[in-house]
Amino acid sequence: MKHIFDCNLQNATTKVYSSLSLTSILDHLFETNEKKLFIVDENTKQFIDERCDTVQIPPGEGAKHMETVCHIISEAKKRDFSRDDMFVAVGGGVICDITGFAASIYMRGASVAFIPTTLLAQVDASLGGKTGVDFENVKNFIGQFYPAQRLYLSPQPLLTLSDKEYKNGLGEVLKHALLAQDDTLYTYLSNNADQILNRDKDILNDLILFSLEVKKSFIERDPKETEGIRDSLNLGHTFGHALESMGNLSMISHGEAVAWGVVAALRCSYDRNLCTKEFYQKYEQLFVQYGFSLHYDITDTDSYLDFLKKDKKRRKGEIRFVLMKDQGEPVITALEGSRILPYII
Ligand SMILES: NC(=O)c1ccc[n+]([C@@H]2O[C@H](COP(=O)([O-])OP(=O)(O)OC[C@H]3O[C@@H](n4cnc5c(N)ncnc54)[C@H](O)[C@@H]3O)[C@@H](O)[C@H]2O)c1
Repeated sequence: MKHIFDCNLQNATTKVYSSLSLTSILDHLFETNEKKLFIVDENTKQFIDERCDTVQIPPGEGAKHMETVCHIISEAKKRDFSRDDMFVAVGGGVICDITGFAASIYMRGASVAFIPTTLLAQVDASLGGKTGVDFENVKNFIGQFYPAQRLYLSPQPLLTLSDKEYKNGLGEVLKHALLAQDDTLYTYLSNNADQILNRDKDILNDLILFSLEVKKSFIERDPKETEGIRDSLNLGHTFGHALESMGNLSMISHGEAVAWGVVAALRCSYDRNLCTKEFYQKYEQLFVQYGFSLHYDITDTDSYLDFLKKDKKRRKGEIRFVLMKDQGEPVITALEGSRILPYII
């Protein structure tokens, strides 16, 4: 078990550990003797062992609501949990978000550790303190900032992940490559594409850490998303969410939509003389190398623009896009929807 780094978010610190094996993660957790309650679903219960007291919840976004939070809290109360006891999320972003939120309100805040088991959760959802649940069809409407005390990373669970879920995470990793201060992550992705696509455990171990370091560098400077720095992590998401929302293209995964959105943002950046053609093409090529589809036949542009206008990140009626000037230099620009039409078709 390696202690990789600490992520400091105002008054809270997340200790980040990494190990190739899940057993050593469980061993580490059981070195301390507070009570622990493991939150799993049917796909992630395979990653724990007989030592673990569990609550199983249904898999996927459909479980991300207050009833699940109350169920977890009720199970902890039955076990006479105190604030010093520990909730442990073993799952994707959904389980991390729900468990973090349940822990945050249990007796005004209990301990929580994350063992993220999807690539997206490892490189994104597990670090940064955003916890919560959906409410009345609005994603993440209820929630708060409550960073996990411990985050355990391992490439082992990624081996059973579906290709679609794996690609969701890869979309975020490639996005981080653009936002990184230097091109270490880009070079790693570019030089090791075959091993990464074939999920070589050793290569993945480093990839996850390089990617998470990028997220850390943004969130530590803007722990509660009040400084505008964290907004840059939405690169590709404004373009991509509107694409995902379009009914006729609903088969597109989140990762595919983000990848397409990042490249649309790059084309827009180049066209507005913000970045060079070389920079735009270098990253476009990286997305192609990873098999992302960059062309969708959006015939109903009115519908696309309607979804853009609903983007929850808009401010004072303007839609805000993250564009790129250069490696690690995002810039947030308000644009009318119609101005970006050339980049989506
Ligand atoms: N808190 C944050 O900062 C943050 C950031 C990004 C996304 N999110 C949230 O994350 C959620 C999406 O997370 P996700 O993409 O991980 O989806 P998810 O949590 O729904 O997991 C996807 C599916 O994969 C299954 N699964 C998980 N690990 C597996 C494994 N190792 N092998 C086989 N199957 C496995 C799950 O059971 C589920 O069916 C959304 O709710 C989103 O809002 C939060």
